[in-house]
Amino acid sequence: MFGQTLRLFLVLFVACACALGGLGAVADEQVTQRPTGLLGGRKRLKGHTGHSSFRDSAITQDTMVERYRNLYAKYGQDLMKVKLRAGPCAAKGLSSDMELELAYLRIRDTRPSMVWEWSPNHGLSTIFILAALADNGHGQLIAFDVNENWHDSEACMGDQIEGRFRFVLGDVHNTFYELESEVGMPDYLFLDSWHSHIMGMWYVSEVFPKISKHTYVSLHDVHNPKFWGDSFDDKAFRDGRDLRLRPSWMATEEGMTVSDWLLYRSSVCGVYTAAKSRWPAVYDAMNNMRTIYMIEDVRVEGLHPEVQENSTLFFELLCDMDASA
Ligand SMILES: *[C@@H]1O[C@H](CO)[C@@H](O)[C@H](O)[C@H]1NC(C)=O
Repeated sequence: MFGQTLRLFLVLFVACACALGGLGAVADEQVTQRPTGLLGGRKRLKGHTGHSSFRDSAITQDTMVERYRNLYAKYGQDLMKVKLRAGPCAAKGLSSDMELELAYLRIRDTRPSMVWEWSPNHGLSTIFILAALADNGHGQLIAFDVNENWHDSEACMGDQIEGRFRFVLGDVHNTFYELESEVGMPDYLFLDSWHSHIMGMWYVSEVFPKISKHTYVSLHDVHNPKFWGDSFDDKAFRDGRDLRLRPSWMATEEGMTVSDWLLYRSSVCGVYTAAKSRWPAVYDAMNNMRTIYMIEDVRVEGLHPEVQENSTLFFELLCDMDASA
């Protein structure tokens, strides 16, 4: 009995490690040249007319740096303007500079028609999403939250909000169904709400299955070691969110839930993260590359060192479906 439990545990542990290793976007030195991750050898996808060129389940460090180098070169000046404008509204923001930049560049590159953001909170990321849509001259943003803190960033959004932004107040567990029947599903999901297993289970089983076209996803706080052993929830701490039991590279509860789910999908691509806790070499390579294009003094993450983790996991779903379907 005990032996069996132990074996099951080992199998799960290995499966878990594979999921993280395979889907972790980028390979370490010795496997950098391997073209793909978990679904290795994926063929060119049929019917993919999307703008983005991210087509493998995970992309390697070299590919990631190269693609973003091109995007920084192309849109870096626009991005600096956004950072300057966002600065005065950044005090309560809980995102890092690089992941905000990557979000802006990815939206410029992929030109989504409808972005959904759960949960903007104080709205720092919302400034970057809206700016990218405005600079594209294309696309709408719908933001969902249980509070209206996004107003803290309104002054920094300027007229980019006009005709482009809608805010939905309420619990997304309810408002999702209303919006989905009203406007349909988005082609870009920017997820950042409650980082629990239960939250992750809800949307991978209720929301993701409703996606029927190529969709870009970014999930915040996947690789944020501060969410294990955090102090803002004593009960969670007692329940096992203890940094001594969880290595710092390990994804959060929600992140583990979603990456486990991804393991079972056949059409996942463009998986990567710049989180230092997950891939220090990738973070360093990306950070070195971006310093050529970004002026380091212009920062938006300054006041919250405890969350500056660049913790976002980026991926795409239904990569073989046309975005206009
Ligand atoms: C996230 O990236 C920004 C910009 O490079 C950097 O200032 C910050 O220290 C990074 N956070 C971590 C934990 O590496």
